[in-house]
Amino acid sequence: MSLNIRTYRDLTEPDRSGLVNQIAAQRRRVADRLATVRRVVAVLSGKGGVGKSFVTAGLARALARSGRATGVLDADFNGPTAPQLLHLPVARCTLHEDGIEPLVSAEGVRCFSMALLLEDGRPLAFRGPETEGHVWRETLEAAALREFLADVAWGALDELLVDLPPGVQRFQELTELLPVPPAGLAVTIPTPESRDAVRRALRAAIDRRATPLGVVENMVGGPFAGGAADELAAEFGLPVLARIPWHPTPDIWDALATRIGAASPERA
Ligand SMILES: Nc1ncnc2c1ncn2[C@@H]1O[C@H](COP(=O)(O)OP(=O)(O)O)[C@@H](O)[C@H]1O
Ligand SMILES: [Mg+2]
Repeated sequence: MSLNIRTYRDLTEPDRSGLVNQIAAQRRRVADRLATVRRVVAVLSGKGGVGKSFVTAGLARALARSGRATGVLDADFNGPTAPQLLHLPVARCTLHEDGIEPLVSAEGVRCFSMALLLEDGRPLAFRGPETEGHVWRETLEAAALREFLADVAWGALDELLVDLPPGVQRFQELTELLPVPPAGLAVTIPTPESRDAVRRALRAAIDRRATPLGVVENMVGGPFAGGAADELAAEFGLPVLARIPWHPTPDIWDALATRIGAASPERA
């Protein structure tokens, strides 16, 4: 069975204006919802397993400790880890008439994750045609991101960190939905392979007019050899914001949070 997917060009005139209106309405909902969020920071890397989620959570907790209102949107729908890393209680999110209430960690980090909707940490499942499953999955995940951005009631936030899955696709979906391009924080490990993957992610981010804040090098001082952070920093004219060792102490995160906070837009 082949999927009958029509391209934008195939749409008839009424379909086309319906689609355009629908997209405009969704973007308006996202813009309304994020009107109380001062800055969205997309946490990027090209590869999985470099510690994007680990860095997002450590940074979020330190930002909250420093008094900044901070949220984490876990946009990795298949491997959601933010609730665990933020030590959130095992609870489901509450759905209200006017949106989804994020959970709040002991330090005050507000978090929304697919893990808070699913039972038993089961992955997002698409029940439908067996063939072309990946196409459906991508469509489903893009729709989930749209709904979460439009429906999670963050309240007033200084920073909303978005923990992305590997690759650049979710980042592109994110920028299409946001009213203004996000800031970007690149996470790499020291190796040349990670450097090359993060380079691609940074280029994609800059193409989408995101503002890269700098590079965080993770898993420093361990088995990984290389100078990815310094090389990327030189290439893109960015600061190295932190070098995170294995099992970092809180002061490492606090120093990163201070740098991120200092690069934040002024409070009105
Ligand atoms: N600096 C670190 N010290 C100790 N464990 C780490 C560190 N960075 C990452 N980890 C662990 O390595 C694994 C992969 O990190 P994760 O944040 O899930 O990567 P990603 O989100 O990029 O796929 C996780 O188990 C995480 O807890
Ligand atoms: Mg992750």
